[in-house]
Amino acid sequence: MSTHKNKPITISTLRKLKKTSEKFSCLTAYEATIAEKISEAGVEVILVGDSLGMVIQGHDSTLPVTMDQLIYHLECVARGNVNSHIMADMPFMSYATENLAYDNAMRLMQAGANSVKVEGGEWILKTTELLSQRGIPVCAHLGLTPQSINRLGGYRVQGRDLDDKNRILSEARQLEDTGAEIILLECVPAILAEEISSSLTVPTIGIGAGSATDGQIMVCYDVIGAYSWENQPKFVKNFMNEANSISEAFETYVSEVKNLNFPSAENSF
Ligand code: KIV
Repeated sequence: MSTHKNKPITISTLRKLKKTSEKFSCLTAYEATIAEKISEAGVEVILVGDSLGMVIQGHDSTLPVTMDQLIYHLECVARGNVNSHIMADMPFMSYATENLAYDNAMRLMQAGANSVKVEGGEWILKTTELLSQRGIPVCAHLGLTPQSINRLGGYRVQGRDLDDKNRILSEARQLEDTGAEIILLECVPAILAEEISSSLTVPTIGIGAGSATDGQIMVCYDVIGAYSWENQPKFVKNFMNEANSISEAFETYVSEVKNLNFPSAENSF
């Protein structure tokens, strides 16, 4: 059982959990009712993700999401949240230059975020440094970065070949050095995520990255089996199959992450 029930979850809570090797859970949320249930279930981090473009708006990518839309959903989540740490995604192109990143990150923090998430490696180093020096905790998202889907050419596992693996590892280290407080790894081989997690002092969060990351994240609608995938990725697990309520599904997700029952090898690459 988690030791921080009801206390606000901060970046230092997440660091302490990493130090004591206690896994933590994260889920996306986009509105107050689900955010409240997620927070009450003991989920440490709620991400107001730009996945809202797909699961709320019905687009086939995250690219159409705007700052105003993200802020609307962030404010809804903040009203429902109990004590989880709220991370807000910076939408596509909202951090294309350092000035833009600075203005838009400020808007997200003023709307209720406790940290912001940006996608990318080397090119976000300066932005990460700038925001973190000004008191804005940054989560850097590496591996499969959905905002770059048109360059990547598809939603597929990253870091499989040696050059790519070394690049992701080196970017994670540089991002930590320039002030990133959290590294999120999406769809990378479990062995790479393990190497990154053990070589960094900041917490890592994984989705499709195996069980060795310090935290796990899923889209809330995947946990309750509400999103219809054409080809469901391996890392998705429907916790509603054995639950009697949405709250119970979130609670089971939390305990399976804590007890290392999720993700299993079959959810990993
Ligand atoms: O927007 C989102 O939901 C995300 C997670 C899948 C990590 O970035």
